[in-house]
Amino acid sequence: MSKRILLTAALPYSNSPVHIGHLVEHFGADFWARFQRMQGNECHFLCADDTHGTPVMLAAREKGISPEDHVNQVWKLHTQDFADCQIEYSHYSSTNSQENKELCEYFYHQMKEKGHIHIKSIDQLYCEHDKMFLPDRFVKGTCPKCGANDQYGDNCDKCGATYNPSDMKSPYCSICRNAPVTKQSDHILFKLNDFKSYLEAWLPQHTAKEVSNKMLEWFKEDLRDWDISRDEPYFGFKVPGYKDKYFYVWVDAPMGYISTTVQFCKKTGLNFDDFWKSDKTEVYHFVGKDVARFHTLFWPALLKTAGFRTPNQVFVHGHLTVNGEKMSKSKGTQIQARTYLNHLDPAYLRYYFACKLSSGLDDFDFSTDDFIQRVNSDLIGKITNLASRGAQMLSSKLDGKMSSPDTEGRKLIQHAQSKAKEIADHYQAWDFAKAINEIRALADEANRYFDEKAPWKTLATDPAGTKAVLTTTLNIYRLLAIFLKPVLPKYVEQVEKLLNEKPYAWSDSQKILENHSIQPYQHLANRIDPEKVKAMMEESKPAASSTPAPIAAKPALQESTTGEIEIEAFTKVDLRIAKIIEAEEVKEADKLLKLKVDLGPLGTRQIFAGIKSAYKADQLIGRLTVVVANLKPRKMKFGMSEGMVLAAGEGGSSLFILSPDAGAQPGDKVK
Ligand code: MSP
Ligand code: ZN
Repeated sequence: MSKRILLTAALPYSNSPVHIGHLVEHFGADFWARFQRMQGNECHFLCADDTHGTPVMLAAREKGISPEDHVNQVWKLHTQDFADCQIEYSHYSSTNSQENKELCEYFYHQMKEKGHIHIKSIDQLYCEHDKMFLPDRFVKGTCPKCGANDQYGDNCDKCGATYNPSDMKSPYCSICRNAPVTKQSDHILFKLNDFKSYLEAWLPQHTAKEVSNKMLEWFKEDLRDWDISRDEPYFGFKVPGYKDKYFYVWVDAPMGYISTTVQFCKKTGLNFDDFWKSDKTEVYHFVGKDVARFHTLFWPALLKTAGFRTPNQVFVHGHLTVNGEKMSKSKGTQIQARTYLNHLDPAYLRYYFACKLSSGLDDFDFSTDDFIQRVNSDLIGKITNLASRGAQMLSSKLDGKMSSPDTEGRKLIQHAQSKAKEIADHYQAWDFAKAINEIRALADEANRYFDEKAPWKTLATDPAGTKAVLTTTLNIYRLLAIFLKPVLPKYVEQVEKLLNEKPYAWSDSQKILENHSIQPYQHLANRIDPEKVKAMMEESKPAASSTPAPIAAKPALQESTTGEIEIEAFTKVDLRIAKIIEAEEVKEADKLLKLKVDLGPLGTRQIFAGIKSAYKADQLIGRLTVVVANLKPRKMKFGMSEGMVLAAGEGGSSLFILSPDAGAQPGDKVK
């Protein structure tokens, strides 16, 4: 009997690009959804961008555009990244939609009507300069426990203490570095404790034991109220009845799952009530362990309040590390999806993450060496090799038509077929790593068989026997392809073509191809070139010119809703023709050249430019180019940088500095 399934991945924030940590989740969900469809189930995979909150507001401000424009731009980038990674959503929306706003207001009225909220005046740190209450992450200061400087407002990186921002010593606003004041304001609180016994029963039934045990630790005491409002300025939905209060982003974010379903139903004509109002559909969320609390405590309580069904299960995964370290932008381990795609085929990463992903909460590592090794030796060396050797021989040395396997071959194929159930169970349980292990073991057997039979030796003397061996080999390869299809959809499309078949369903694994013509062999996949992995890691390193300190700089010169600026804003930037008079490599920095430039009447300047990947030092000396001359000097690890060289291009070897036509003089203003 076919099932109807709704699956979601957590909604990525609109304040950053997709990185390979996000891909863990979206790949996992995509594998599972594709697996369900191969089983003949109806599986709808929905997601959206999570667009609200302070960081998004500040990111837009920094760009000098409206938050709406910002989230629309990011939506385009996110959806392009996901599509290029072969992730296929049934619908990908945004929480900044009319449907979501209405839903959020509806939930709020239900909370109010059922008496689950109350108002409380709360003390909070406020920045007089930026005219805003500071979320914990925007307060920095000295840890009250160990005295470490520059710690965030909620916990200390050095000693691990957690505290309230108001307990910090010498707190400062991370945006403008001024000291905040304490200010009171009314907040709307959701009485989570009203749902204590409901959740206590709900948790063990709808999450893994590991997760529910962790959550239940909070239940020794009363559950604390949840603050669901934020004051102006904020980017989000206004709370009805207030002129300066907004819903906290985590209120409307999970509602995005429902509003995306509303849109999806409009698009497809499916009936909304079948999804969120009845149990005709199985509903699953797939999320990282950092957001499990929102999905297993607040979210079911909200759904219950508003009279919607709750999910069947919240699947929780661990976090990805890169070469053994927590992903970090400044360390260059936060590899963006786009950076990966600039160098490598997404199929490799899909395969690698499938090798690593299990149903537990454990973190797992993207180790670049292991990545190259697994893909090259297993996916290419063991699996793809069966096709390249077997199919090539069949088409080029024989007539391209399979015969029948002999008794031994048939046994081998049947053995592989008998694994279909076990492998399916692993997929179903989100144990992709176990599924891949089984598949790899089958590939090993097939390779042993092929090498033992050595068909290349028997080709001339026993063409019929050789054909039988190739028929067996290709049948096993075909099974591997069927089993890998959820992970490698595009790759397997090529296999379906090669073997002259329709798109595979899981049940096709129970068939054996006999007396069947195949297409001439076309190259299926390449080994990973380690140089490309290196280049990807290099590109992930932070740009030398990126400002390390605050998350968002001052408000843009001129606010505008379209991204346009006034001419005055442009003329504030002093662009000058500069002559490069000295250039040397900064040995310790991968990207930096240290330049001395002549600005004519303005004198000379030292500039560190992140262009080493594209230019040799001595090739630049004597050259004219364009620099920003009134950039505030910045102290860098290797000395002061007193300006900025303009360049076009993506980075790496694709970087191009500008040159004026002949006649321009050092110091000339660029207008
Ligand atoms: N916007 C919220 C989720 C709202 S859901 C209603 C959010 N966004 S996020 O962009 O920070 O993270 C999205 C998902 O990616 C989360 O499930 C998070 O756990 C996951 N990951 C982010 N970094 C990750 C790793 N390094 N490894 C694995 N998953 C990671 O949280
Ligand atoms: Zn401030």
